[in-house]
This record gives sequence, C-alpha cells and structure tokens, in this order.
Amino acid sequence: MPIKKYIIANWKMNLNLAESVNLAKEMKEKFSGFDQGEVVVCPSILALSEVEKILKGGKAILGAQNVFWEDKGMYTGEISADMLAEVGCKYVILGHSDRRKYLFENYEMIHKKVRAVMETEKLTPIVCIGETLEEKESDKRDFVLVEQLQQALSGIDVFGEQRVIVAYEPVWALGTGTAIDPAEAEYAHKIIKLALNDMFGMRVVSKNFSVIYGGSINSKNVKSFANLENMDGLLVGGASLKAEEFYKVAKSIVN
Ligand code: PGA
Repeated sequence: MPIKKYIIANWKMNLNLAESVNLAKEMKEKFSGFDQGEVVVCPSILALSEVEKILKGGKAILGAQNVFWEDKGMYTGEISADMLAEVGCKYVILGHSDRRKYLFENYEMIHKKVRAVMETEKLTPIVCIGETLEEKESDKRDFVLVEQLQQALSGIDVFGEQRVIVAYEPVWALGTGTAIDPAEAEYAHKIIKLALNDMFGMRVVSKNFSVIYGGSINSKNVKSFANLENMDGLLVGGASLKAEEFYKVAKSIVN
C-alpha cells in the first residue's frame, strides 16, 4: 500500500544552475512543514549536486530526469544509476514523452533503463506512459497503455520494499494548460492497475506500485483530481517552476 501520495516536480530544461539553486531554496522553505506526501524535485543533471546540497535535511527529495542503462564505460554524454545515487538521487524519470519525441527513445531503451534502475536497488523509477492525440482519436488508448507497460516492465523483478511509479501522461495534454477530464484519468489509472495486476499479481501491485497523473496540472485544476480512487500522486511540469504554485498543488492533492 502506498503510504503517501507522490508530488513530483519535473523542471525539464527550463532552469539554469543559478535559477535551479534559487528555486530549490524556495522549495525547501515552503515544504518545511509538509508531512503528508512524498515531494520529489527533478532538476536538470547540471544542477543535481547543488540542489541536493540545498534540499538535504528538508522534506523534498532529489530525482533525476534520465539515466543510462550501463554501469560505466564508453558512453559519451551518459550517466549511470549509480552515479545518480552517488549525488543523492532517490528517483529517476524514465521514458518521458519529451525523450521519446526528441531523442527517439524506444521501448527497448526504456526497458533497459527500468531494468538497470531496479537492479541497482538505489533509485525508484518513475516510468512514463501515455497515448498521443492520434492514438486517442483512433480509440487506441487502452491498447497503447497496456502495450507500453508490457514493453517497459515485463520480465522485471520487483523485490521486497522496492517501489515502481507509473506516470500516466497523455501526450496531448502535456504543457497545454488544460488537463484531461479527471474521470478519464481515473479510468486510465484503472486500466493501468488492471494490466499491472496481470503482470505482477495484485499483492505486489498494491504493495509496490503507484500510479500518478501528469499533464497540465496546476493549482486551479488539481482539486478535481484529489479524491480519485486510483490517483497516487502527480507529475508536474510547468506548475513546478514556481514554489508557491507547486506547494498549492501539493497541498490540494494530499488534503
Ligand atoms: P506539464 O508537464 O505539467 O507542464 O504538462 C508534465 C510533464 O511533462 O511531465
């Protein structure tokens, strides 16, 4: 059973080092008395070490936006799960649609990343899935979600207390300012949990898995997502770039 809801900030490539440091300081202060949820901040790789120094001892935890699947070697420009853990990361976003779109990350690469992360047992993966507008309009959403889950997670072992977060992010709702109908998110989360049950069994899914939503969440629309039965948290992009706005989002989802 997930004890806490996840509220995850994905800063993407929006902030330079100085801006990341400033926002991390504001976040640490804002969240100093926040105990109900697990708050995760994912800056760019450039800012991980500095942001970790700031967040240390506070309520927000460090996450990364990407990882490579090998431990070390001739992989120019890449960073391993152990390297992320060394700088204090506890979470890592995998298979985000930005990376599928611009870096051509495919199923095989995402699967290898999930496997590498699970095998280190040092990081919790946040595995992003979601349909494109074209897939939605041709009524393929459910099929696409199940397919993406199977490609990313089949054959992966989940041990003991290890956690896996699946982020449902309908690609067509990202960065638009308009989130999807909460009832649609709830339905998609149900589909995801059923598919996970088939793959891992109900006991493991209820103990080790969380399903969160991402896509244009802000302090205004978040309330209608707060009480959905299968909603274990949020992955927040644009609205995580201002401490006050992100705090309001977090407060609304845990209350
Ligand atoms: P958004 O981004 O909240 O700005 O839509 C979420 C995401 O892409 O993870």
